[in-house]
Amino acid sequence: AGFFTYDPGFMATASCHSAITYIDGEQGILLYRGYPIEQLATKASFLEVAYLLFYGELPTKAELAEFERVIMTHTMLNENLKDFLNGFHYDAHPMAILCGVVASLSAFYHDSIDVHDPRYREISAHRLIAKVPTIAAAAYKHNVGEPIMYPRNDLRYGANFLHMMFATPCEHYKPTLLAEKALNLLFILHADHEQNASTSTVRLAGSSGANPFACVAAGVASLWGPAHGGANEAVLDMLTEIGDVANVPKYIEKAKDKDDAFRLMGFGHRVYKNYDPRAKIIREVCHQLLDEMSGTLDNPMFELALKLEEIATNDDYFVERKLYPNVDFYSGIIYSALGIPRNMFTVMFAVARTVGWVSHWMEMMSDPSTRIGRPRQIYHGPAARDYVPISQR
Ligand code: CMC
Repeated sequence: AGFFTYDPGFMATASCHSAITYIDGEQGILLYRGYPIEQLATKASFLEVAYLLFYGELPTKAELAEFERVIMTHTMLNENLKDFLNGFHYDAHPMAILCGVVASLSAFYHDSIDVHDPRYREISAHRLIAKVPTIAAAAYKHNVGEPIMYPRNDLRYGANFLHMMFATPCEHYKPTLLAEKALNLLFILHADHEQNASTSTVRLAGSSGANPFACVAAGVASLWGPAHGGANEAVLDMLTEIGDVANVPKYIEKAKDKDDAFRLMGFGHRVYKNYDPRAKIIREVCHQLLDEMSGTLDNPMFELALKLEEIATNDDYFVERKLYPNVDFYSGIIYSALGIPRNMFTVMFAVARTVGWVSHWMEMMSDPSTRIGRPRQIYHGPAARDYVPISQR
């Protein structure tokens, strides 16, 4: 028997050393490799940020061009995956499809999953960054019953994603620069967040030497929960249910009631005890984007969200517990304006977070101090006792 520190939810346990992302929850600071999220979100491209997270430094022009070329050459899926995709029920949740199809990539790239060879690790990571968007868009197409669109490698990463989502074989789709810009911003904000539940899951799965496709599938599964990435979908469901500004106070009371399971979705964070800097950026650009995207305006939802934030952040319950909007509070409103359906929101999060997952997996695999993740427990079951034959029970 041993005595272990009991730390449910790992409130006070650092599971690793990492040089990727820094968060100061009290001050509301988020840095990727030392660079403030505010600067990256407004000035960089998503693949530039992906390079930074993955390799540790911002790329030169030539390095970025080469990285973009490499990623775009890996965007195709094996044609046999179409049969696998078609096996899913037509209304399967796209996160269920993503989870299954990402795991199945292990079955296609078994030559490259020698996790002890850094070259193979890098190729697997590139494949994941490139193929997850293709799988995500294919899951959407499966849902709506349209043919899967092949990737277009002549387009930029975000534009290609929108093409795979919204083009059809008989209709060309040219995303607006604004839509591309909005997607770029959301992807950058979601790319990494140090040891969150899904990233810790990827690390724990990978600590046994499992292949990266299986590990990232585990990350997708963890992200799906409403306390984590599933919150963006839950926020829009909540706003729809609230329906009108007049109903906000009633829902605030429900969220405060400990006998009611209802929580304000998109509110609160384990680490941020000040405003989530990502939510601040999204809120600021939300107005501008919604105004410019005329025709697809979803302003009533935004107005409702702003009102909800205003009332909650002036309420003692939320103030005392330092509960502020998090990244998921406003992101769904922008996704909606882009024409992305609600059940795809968490998938969008997964596309962006894949970069963080593979960066952490790479960092862990090249860290000589990595050991298999194996938490202990405080046992409180029965003491040792003798087996009783079934006839005597
Ligand atoms: N609405 C109402 N009360 C809340 C909320 C909320 N959204 N969040 C926390 N609280 C209360 C909670 O009831 C507890 O009160 P008390 O001390 O009286 O028991 C106190 O605040 C502390 O909450 P906790 O659950 O112990 O905090 P945690 O660090 O374990 O959980 C959280 C963090 C994000 C899971 C939680 O705030 C939550 O469930 N939020 C809603 C879901 C959500 O928006 N998740 C997205 C997180 S950010 C992006 C991501 O990770 O994907």
